[in-house]
Amino acid sequence: MKSIWYKDAIIYSLDVETFMDGNGDGIGDFVGLTQHLNYLAGSGITCLWLLPFYPSPNRDNGYDVMDYYNVDPRLGTLGDFVEFMHQARERGIRVLIDLVINHTSDQHPWFQQSRSNPQSRYRNYYVWSKNPPESDPSLIAFPTVEDSLWEYDEQAEAYYLHHFYKHQPDLNIANPLVREEICKIMGFWLELGVSGFRIDAASFVIEGIGIAEAQQASLQSFFDEMRGFLTSHQGDAVLLAEANVPAEEIPTYFGQGNRIHLLFNFLLNQYMFLALARQTAEPLHYGLKNLPEIPAQCQWLNFVRHHDELTLDRLSDSEMQEIFAAFAPEEKMQIFGRGIRRRLPPMLKGDRRHIELTYSLMFSLPGTPLLRYGDEIGMGDDLSLPGRTSVRTPMQWSDEPNAGFSKVPPDQLIQPIISEGAYGYKEVNVAQEQRDPAALINWIERLIRIRKQCPEFGYGTLHILETDAPCVLAHCCTWSDRAVIALHNLANQDCSVTLKSTDYGHLSELFGDHPYESLHRDHKAIQLSPYGYRWFQANQAH
Ligand code: NOJ
Ligand code: CA
Repeated sequence: MKSIWYKDAIIYSLDVETFMDGNGDGIGDFVGLTQHLNYLAGSGITCLWLLPFYPSPNRDNGYDVMDYYNVDPRLGTLGDFVEFMHQARERGIRVLIDLVINHTSDQHPWFQQSRSNPQSRYRNYYVWSKNPPESDPSLIAFPTVEDSLWEYDEQAEAYYLHHFYKHQPDLNIANPLVREEICKIMGFWLELGVSGFRIDAASFVIEGIGIAEAQQASLQSFFDEMRGFLTSHQGDAVLLAEANVPAEEIPTYFGQGNRIHLLFNFLLNQYMFLALARQTAEPLHYGLKNLPEIPAQCQWLNFVRHHDELTLDRLSDSEMQEIFAAFAPEEKMQIFGRGIRRRLPPMLKGDRRHIELTYSLMFSLPGTPLLRYGDEIGMGDDLSLPGRTSVRTPMQWSDEPNAGFSKVPPDQLIQPIISEGAYGYKEVNVAQEQRDPAALINWIERLIRIRKQCPEFGYGTLHILETDAPCVLAHCCTWSDRAVIALHNLANQDCSVTLKSTDYGHLSELFGDHPYESLHRDHKAIQLSPYGYRWFQANQAH
């Protein structure tokens, strides 16, 4: 069977700015990242997703782009980017980049022309209105920060649309000229060797507020245009969409397998946290059954945390409150009234068993797994920093000053390093963990290695297995004549689980939280420690 690279991938996301400072100015850069490609290759990851690195006033961590055709001079030059791409390719690592097309920065020359000259071709690059409609509060992306979707501009004498911060005017995707610009931008980066794009805020791109009804209908077709362009320029490049939408809207993105290749699995992520909070498998059963079937060429991207808040907006209020109570009980840990601004290890009170359970689970869910820089060493967060910067502190490389991230005096760092407490860089860093066979970093490497031996999870068909233990998620993924079975005990107590079906023949142990006694052939009374997990190769297909 032909392999589909993104179904076999292990993706790792990072922000160049906070990964490694190569030139000693306190800001991470492409030179520093390139120097650490051997580290990344060694960990087993196969694909990087880089957060925006374009020139930007940087008022939204680079998601406010001023120039789509360049590298932020603070992070390096286009030459540095090309060398980075070369070195990544040499190591077989693919690169996805963020494509922020719902909006630009208000400093982008397009917006400057648009607001100052009604005759300019750029006027209709954005969405203007003399009499904007009332804003639907559910569409305001940052509800506690912004209170309207429209901002009045003195120069233009009109209001412009912005779903995010008011300094991020929304582009008018219904305008064919804007579509052409976006394709040209994709073409530029494809020529420089990237393997695809993360479409930022994809659900807002096709929202259509303030755009004439006739044009609204054609908005979704822009994804087809992007796909057509991509495929004609580089056959195996992919589109990965950020769309946190209800299950019934998912087919809009995947189409018949001819639109978006990959979607972040926001729904399953939220049900996974509900299951972790309740210590039962039922929310995962619900979450998995609730996902629509997706076309064969399409794929879910599963994750634990990413660079934003852990959003819980697909759950009911009371479910959200359960998760807050378990993992973010203090108000300062929450954000936007619907999310958590913490990394995983502090949410789980540093319980190594619980952390392993969560990553083992995420890696075994049908789809492709995503890690984020620092996950492999169990980095924490800094709640004294504002908003989402709490989870965006620099990578902790060693116990040297500034965690080995940079040589500048600490007050000149782009973000403070976590230096106090259990997650301080003296306790949590790459160099120290690599010397300790029992450390999380070596466990994550093993997880990646075993996951790569199980293509069933990436390509296969899911079967949820019935058991007699409500705290255990038991699932099987089958693919061609192969099958893997995974058991995850969500509860903090020993448990013994019996699979109701014995169709799986002999099960060979692949992975687990510790070596267990061999299984009985009837699959009865399988032991699991508190937060224990076991993966098996089934020798007979389901
Ligand atoms: C989603 C990004 O992940 C987030 O960080 C950003 O603020 C918004 N899109 C706006 O671009
Ligand atoms: Ca630098």
